[in-house]
Amino acid sequence: MNKPDLCIAKDRKKVDIDYINLDMDIKPIFQNKKYFLRTYGCQMNVHDSEEIKYYLESLGFTPTNILDESDIVVLNTCAIRENAKDKVFGYLGRCKHLKKIKKDLIIVLTGCLMQQPSEIEEISKNHGYIDIVVGTHNLNELPKLISNVKGKQNIEVYSNSDKVFENIKYRRDSKISAWINIQLGCDKFCTYCIVPYTRGRERSRRMDSILEEVASLKEQGYMEVTLLGQNVNAYGNDLGLGYDFATLLESVAKIGIPRIRFVTSHPWNFTDKMIEVIAKYPNIMPYVHLPIQSGSDAILKKMNRRYTVAEYKNLFNKIKATIPRVSITTDIIVGFPNESAKDFQDTLDIVNYCKFDGAFTFIFSPRMGTAAALMVDKITMKEKEERLHQLNELVNKYSLESNKKYVGEVVDVLITDLSDKGIDKVCGYTDTMKLVNVLGSKDLIGQIVKVKITDAKSFSLDGVVA
Ligand code: SAH
Ligand code: SF4
Ligand code: F3S
Repeated sequence: MNKPDLCIAKDRKKVDIDYINLDMDIKPIFQNKKYFLRTYGCQMNVHDSEEIKYYLESLGFTPTNILDESDIVVLNTCAIRENAKDKVFGYLGRCKHLKKIKKDLIIVLTGCLMQQPSEIEEISKNHGYIDIVVGTHNLNELPKLISNVKGKQNIEVYSNSDKVFENIKYRRDSKISAWINIQLGCDKFCTYCIVPYTRGRERSRRMDSILEEVASLKEQGYMEVTLLGQNVNAYGNDLGLGYDFATLLESVAKIGIPRIRFVTSHPWNFTDKMIEVIAKYPNIMPYVHLPIQSGSDAILKKMNRRYTVAEYKNLFNKIKATIPRVSITTDIIVGFPNESAKDFQDTLDIVNYCKFDGAFTFIFSPRMGTAAALMVDKITMKEKEERLHQLNELVNKYSLESNKKYVGEVVDVLITDLSDKGIDKVCGYTDTMKLVNVLGSKDLIGQIVKVKITDAKSFSLDGVVA
């Protein structure tokens, strides 16, 4: 039994990072058994779930979408906001009920929420029916823990994060577009954010192993890779090997995979060299997710975001001026403790200035252990909800405006899936990350197709093959 500890999770004393080459022998002892996996949270969790799927399938399990059919349930959880947590505990009610009927059902919890000591206390006190809890730093222990499951709750969560596992195997969801971790953890400690505690210290994978992974995906016929990190701009800084994110991007581009994306960029250390590399290589997509969080300098300071609104605008304008056709999206939090009417107006002003292609908007949610959770807050929830509503109206207006500019244009779309907008349609994304529903057959899936845009909505475009 190992339980998480926020003091250890917060510790950033320099220790050597261990690069561990995984070489695992997993026995398929669960033949004819089914797994049900549910993923909450960000792309990083989605990618971790691909690792979990590899372990489950190597153990002999086959997937099912029906909870009642499963022999093992795995919930990969998120801790970013309170509603992410509520969803998990809501769903656990159904799992508990199923276990009453199906005594041998194995229930496994993992993901960021499990790195929170308070949740682990809750689970060990009140949720004895959960068999295994494993943290974000030791997913590779899952095969062993599942193979040895004994009907007694087993919690294995560590808070020290001085390891990078290489040679991780994945059962990827897509044969067209792949996620690649380039950097784990985060050292920024934005005062509202739990991620530095749940994902540990910022550590980069070595460039040669990333390039090997990209080359192998290209060989397998992948059309797109997305490089993942909480703050990809800081890639390499911890290694001291003389390369940075711009170097990595350029080297990935030279491998020649048709489409390269990356998330997320912090506005703080987005270098000119990065902008130049993105502009120079046609296979690096002209799309940047650049979270601003607030339009008020006072709030940005309290958030520990390390930039001012003027600096953000400067960067925004440089990116727009240098990268042709670039689209820029953002994240915004409303109702940070004591955000005044003026602070909120500043946020509306920056949205009016940048006219973002899209924005994810959130109401501030206090996370236990973070600095902002201790700030006294006089703003009512009703007020915060009204602000969110007002912000969303503005954000959606600009999304629609930016989408309307595409009508009549012919754009490249990488078709990835059947569309849920009709059996005669498929869907995919433009280079600028606009979702397009295209009239056409499933034979187009996996190809980059020239599409003429016929209509625009706030969150998607319609088109026909040109
Ligand atoms: N590393 C990324 C963010 C990952 S979290 C970055 O720095 O851009 C995704 C988004 O969730 C954040 O950009 C922020 O807008 C939001 N978020 C994080 N913590 C939050 C909290 N406590 N309450 C509300 N929104 C939060
Ligand atoms: Fe959280 Fe800030 Fe790190 Fe992003 S940069 S993960 S918002 S602490
Ligand atoms: Fe992602 Fe949620 Fe963890 S947003 S990093 S899964 S807290």
